Amino acid sequence: MTDVTTLTEAEAAAELARLAAEIAHHDRLYHTHDAPEITDAAYDALRQRNAAIEARFPTLVRADSPTRRVGAATATGFAKLRHRVPMLSLDNAFAPEDFTEFTARARRFLGPPFLGNTTALAFVAEPKIDGLSVSITYENGALLHAATRGDGEEGEDVTANIRTIKSIPQTLPAPYPARIEIRGEVFMTKADFLALNTAQEAAGDKIFANPRNAAAGGLRQLDATITATRPLSMFAYAMGEASEPVAETHWHWLQTLARWGFAVNPLSKRIAETEAEAFQAELGRNRAGLPYDIDGVVYKIDDLALQRRLGFVGRAPRWAIAWKFPAEQATTTLLDILIQVGRTGANTPVAALAPVNVGGVLVSRATLHNEDEIARLGVRIGDTVTLQRAGDVIPQIVAVIPDGIDRPKFVFPTTCAACATPLARAPGEIVWRCPNGLACPAQVEERLIHFCSRLAFDIEGMGEKTVREFHALGWIKTPADIFRLKSRQPEIAALEGWGTLSADNLIRAIDTRRRVPLARFIYALGIRRIGEQNAKLLARHYTSYENWRAQMALAVQIGAEARSDLGAIIGIGPAIATELAEFFAEPHNTAALDDLVPQLTIEPAEAPAATALAGKIIVFTGSLVSLTRPEAKAMAENLGARVTDSVSKKTDLVVLGTDAGSKARKAAELGVATVDEAGWREIAGLPPLAG
Ligand code: IVH
Repeated sequence: MTDVTTLTEAEAAAELARLAAEIAHHDRLYHTHDAPEITDAAYDALRQRNAAIEARFPTLVRADSPTRRVGAATATGFAKLRHRVPMLSLDNAFAPEDFTEFTARARRFLGPPFLGNTTALAFVAEPKIDGLSVSITYENGALLHAATRGDGEEGEDVTANIRTIKSIPQTLPAPYPARIEIRGEVFMTKADFLALNTAQEAAGDKIFANPRNAAAGGLRQLDATITATRPLSMFAYAMGEASEPVAETHWHWLQTLARWGFAVNPLSKRIAETEAEAFQAELGRNRAGLPYDIDGVVYKIDDLALQRRLGFVGRAPRWAIAWKFPAEQATTTLLDILIQVGRTGANTPVAALAPVNVGGVLVSRATLHNEDEIARLGVRIGDTVTLQRAGDVIPQIVAVIPDGIDRPKFVFPTTCAACATPLARAPGEIVWRCPNGLACPAQVEERLIHFCSRLAFDIEGMGEKTVREFHALGWIKTPADIFRLKSRQPEIAALEGWGTLSADNLIRAIDTRRRVPLARFIYALGIRRIGEQNAKLLARHYTSYENWRAQMALAVQIGAEARSDLGAIIGIGPAIATELAEFFAEPHNTAALDDLVPQLTIEPAEAPAATALAGKIIVFTGSLVSLTRPEAKAMAENLGARVTDSVSKKTDLVVLGTDAGSKARKAAELGVATVDEAGWREIAGLPPLAG
């Protein structure tokens, strides 16, 4: 370890960031999971090193520094923050009468000239985002701290986490009040939620039930570097404490928020009282097509002076109401409980349902998650169940409708649905797994599908259906077989729906993928918990396949130096190290690897720090002609740069494709350097385009 006295400032900053993340990780294991992975002495050593570096570089002390958190951590690990202005909730309306009653009550309270319907009341209608509310305080234009709602009086200090969300400004452009609290809803889009769950599943990690849970889970991470990897956004919509008045109407407040750089929901609209019902109906119709979940519309009286006069009753304002959409539920019969076998052997129960329409979508399958969920619901085959499209995405069974019939309890199988090997449930896990690995045909098939998938070898023409078909025909048993398919070209051409041309194309597509970057290769192996991110970490650490393979062979030994080196990689840790060691301890796996590797050219990972782009923040915008977006992104990351989505003052370079729009303008406005595609190819060391 480098002597603290010889560290440069840049090295110190990097190490403090790493230590903050690492110590937070161990805190979480210790406090939240009661499962420490390192000894107390090793933990103390980390803290001492952190303190020593901070003592030498006092200006580098981070907001999330472990020294700042001492004593502040609570049972759940987050410090508490008291809201200076309570975060209250809203009364609900479910029908037009409820809305009329709400406005009548406000008019009664205000008295003349609002009593009776002669003086108009203007409203702002805003989609009610289904996320979690947060309150962010800015002092002298700089983000000071942020808290979750908690019980409305006191929330959790999520400052470090909020700082990682790109759509939340770190500083406000002037003019601004000396102190201002901004409130909004943190959420995840439906598409990001689905992608996250796919990645989580691939890595053997927790699956979220809906976008709301995924957003809450992503934000409430003691290790804010995890939050940074989750695609979170926020719509700002309310004001907490303000040291001076900012606007006279809510509508102008929203515009101020937008000017400060917050995302304000674009569907928000200033409306007359008489327009509410039509707005509600229209948004209700469009709801399913929105990229994020909403559960109703919030109607707020626009005039802030009137809001102040109306005040609060109990825990809700008199000046706003949440008009909820009807829940998208339906009733149907549970026909059967099927077991699906995943890539890592998880035997997952799935409900087979009599098809039913839920909020415009025909549903015949619903997840039952695991054995415990079946017990919790008390659901049995033949029962009538209430079904819900949770967060409008994954259908879920929410309850059983009692009919007095005592049907037999579902007995969770003790053997794998695919290969009949006895299932195992690890202590502390809720999932039953088949331990048969590559000898289980379902796991083999799922691994082959994963191997060919977009983020892995990305073989065009080897989609799920083709892999299943070729596997069923016995043509592919291991990944290496895919690269030997050439010999079956005539047989492929003879398959129904194929022909010579398609077969030729497939063989060509496979050949183009013989060259593969190390990170993709590692990811493609489908090792449990080795998702895209961890594969990149491993590739960067070991740089070449040969080195990685040799080190993994050594890491199989508990206590070996290679094992502790592996576990010490930031972001990997001992649990994932064990997973890798188990993979390499299995002769099936190493045999498959040794068969596969001679078919390929595995490109070593580049050492990131050595390039001119190291540490730079790059944004790609518009469409590129010679590269796909993921290729361009991977290239930039290999050169040590960080790729983000939005242009800010911190952006170092914007690569402009064709049709680059608002981001190009923003770059020009902020004076950020830009290059076109040809310029980017030059920077990235690619040959120039012909013509
Ligand atoms: S205004 C004093 N506006 O709904 C009321 N809330 O049921 C301040 N929510 O806790 C809230 N979208 O988490 C407001 N456009 C919006 C909202 C919104 C979602 C949530 C928020 C609040 C809950 C109340």
